[in-house]
Amino acid sequence: MRKQLFSKSSIIQLTRSSNVLSSSTSALYSSLISDPSIKRTKIKKIVVDEDGTTLVGKDVLIQGWVKTLRDQKQFSFIEVNDGSSGSNLQIIANNDIPTYSEVQAITTGAAVEIYGKLVPSTGKNQKYELQANQVKIVGPCPADTYPLQKKKHTQEYLRSIAHLRARTNTISAVARIRSALAFATHEFFQKEGFTFVQTPLITSSDCEGAGEMFHVTTLPIETPNKIPLNPNNTQEADFTKDFFAKPTYLTVSGQLSGETYACALGDIYTFGPTFRAEKSQTTRHLAEFHMIEPEMAFTNYHEAMDNAENYIKYLINSLFKNTNNYQDLLFFSKFYDKNLINKLKNVLEKPFHRLLYSDAIKLLQEEISKDPSKWSYPKVVFGSDLQTEHERWLAEKYYQSCVFIYNYPREIKSFYMKDSNQYERTVDSFDLLVPGIGELIGGSQREDNYDKLMEKIKEFGLNSNDYQWYLDLRRYGSVPHSGYGLGFERLVCYVTGIENIREAIAYPRFYGNADF
Ligand code: 4AD
Repeated sequence: MRKQLFSKSSIIQLTRSSNVLSSSTSALYSSLISDPSIKRTKIKKIVVDEDGTTLVGKDVLIQGWVKTLRDQKQFSFIEVNDGSSGSNLQIIANNDIPTYSEVQAITTGAAVEIYGKLVPSTGKNQKYELQANQVKIVGPCPADTYPLQKKKHTQEYLRSIAHLRARTNTISAVARIRSALAFATHEFFQKEGFTFVQTPLITSSDCEGAGEMFHVTTLPIETPNKIPLNPNNTQEADFTKDFFAKPTYLTVSGQLSGETYACALGDIYTFGPTFRAEKSQTTRHLAEFHMIEPEMAFTNYHEAMDNAENYIKYLINSLFKNTNNYQDLLFFSKFYDKNLINKLKNVLEKPFHRLLYSDAIKLLQEEISKDPSKWSYPKVVFGSDLQTEHERWLAEKYYQSCVFIYNYPREIKSFYMKDSNQYERTVDSFDLLVPGIGELIGGSQREDNYDKLMEKIKEFGLNSNDYQWYLDLRRYGSVPHSGYGLGFERLVCYVTGIENIREAIAYPRFYGNADF
């Protein structure tokens, strides 16, 4: 049977049919320009990179989507954006060009190709414009049903058409800034000599110990009566019959695996998706978000804070140095946060504050006592988990800049954090609070002593069998080590000034929503 399938004649047939396929695909799409040496010029190259200087007077091919169209008597203005930057290119199409009938059929949102000469513009809104010779509608866009009308849409509405919202100025600018931040993240850590490690997404351990995890299972949950039951407890599923023969989850953090690599490679970082089944509807929480988690061997938590501060400054500096990114930041400062550029400059220029948790509590108590009715959580004592309103007051009002809070009480932090030798009842942990967001980073020095970690695992009600591999790090060549996790979508909110984290990611997943 097999021989027959792969006989010589069938191979020939396959080759023929793929030839047919490729020639028919090319028949489906032929560019406006028959000369294959003429490639698309990205609008960013014209407007941002080269500022038109090398291209003015030359013929260029533009491919993008129509933003607006205005017909005059003898010509039409077409504004095209191709996503490469926030800038549109203005096209002038005279009514005597051979393809003017295409111009007349153009609607907002249509995909077009335009070939023409780049010339200096007489208009005051742009330096250059394209004098069209040929225009082709590649994909028409019916105006009567196109969900993106010219008016301003709310972000709530745009979320309901998330597959089209990247065509808006805001979401495309977010996507470019996000991409630049991801690139600069790798650049920073690679330059610092860190190794990028991809840690598993499916896990059997709960890193943060908070239990807010999504199950990963192939048990027949749609038909509960078919789920195999644990013979020793028939109220429970028999996970030995599940895919991994034990309960498994989507990871809440790559840290524990990251630690094992740091304790071999020295300095590592992870950058991947993480999942939390928190039933939270806030503007700061997602169920699926991305975290950057550096982990450093032979490093204490003060040095980890230094690294975090340098990293954030590096990111902002790289956005400032890139003209395209800077233009997107200017867009955000115009429409979302008037003080954005100043705020980011401030981050670059000033050292981040560092404040003991116990001192933060004193500051908050003092402030709250002035008018407790202004606060949703007026009762703040040593041991309280700081709420977003407290974090934001410290960063936004009191310091008006980024601030590390360190040495939190041990009861409110995770089992793996090192008990402090210096400050009673605390762990060597830190959070970075930033104006407008609250917590952006959480980190700590890790407990590197086997016996102490074992004690803590028990104290936190965890099963030490699940952590044998993690404990092994403390048995064989243990070293002091520290690390932190930065929430990537919160970072995107911070540097763009957009208010809701649901706009910081292409397809947000949050309690009650996994559309698209
Ligand atoms: O403070 P967290 O929970 O720390 C950890 O997960 C550690 N394992 C990190 C480490 O030390 N390697 O989370 C780190 C950061 C937070 O400061 C926040 O920015 C972000 O992750 N974060 C969220 N972002 C969006 N939605 C959520 N539900 C988030 N939960 C945490």
